[in-house]
Amino acid sequence: MALLHVLKYPDPRLREMAEPVAAVDDAIRQIADDMLETMYEDSGIGLAATQVGIAKRIIVMDLSPEMNQPQVFINPEITQRKGTQLSQEGCLSVPGYYEEVERAAKITWQALDAEGNQQTYDGEDLLAVCVQHEIDHLDGKLFVDYLSPLKRQRIRKKMEKTRKRNL
Ligand code: NI
Repeated sequence: MALLHVLKYPDPRLREMAEPVAAVDDAIRQIADDMLETMYEDSGIGLAATQVGIAKRIIVMDLSPEMNQPQVFINPEITQRKGTQLSQEGCLSVPGYYEEVERAAKITWQALDAEGNQQTYDGEDLLAVCVQHEIDHLDGKLFVDYLSPLKRQRIRKKMEKTRKRNL
């Protein structure tokens, strides 16, 4: 296992479109394990491969209170959306910022699990939010894209300042 570096907004690599995983093998499982370790280390509940500079369609998450129920979704695709919900979102690539975003309330999605088996899942509330947020990452999209241009610009400027201070 290894900790990976999480890219921070506005890093251009966060805008890359991730490629589908051709085969779920040990190398892919290793990436997923490393992503989970990185997510736990940063106290996140979800992470997409794009955020660690790997342009493959892999997302990991853990919404359990004890953070002991890791989930891996490979090549995830939403097949059904129902209703809308408004909730506060944050992101390990935009640390320190939490904003309200509108998402589908209930979704159905398909993905390969860590064994490479195609599965169908249903989720609502936070689980639905998290899956939509992480799949957005695989398409180069961030939660700040849902905010007004003014708000997004403010966050971007503050993030750039923070980065300079951390040199
Ligand atoms: Ni995120």
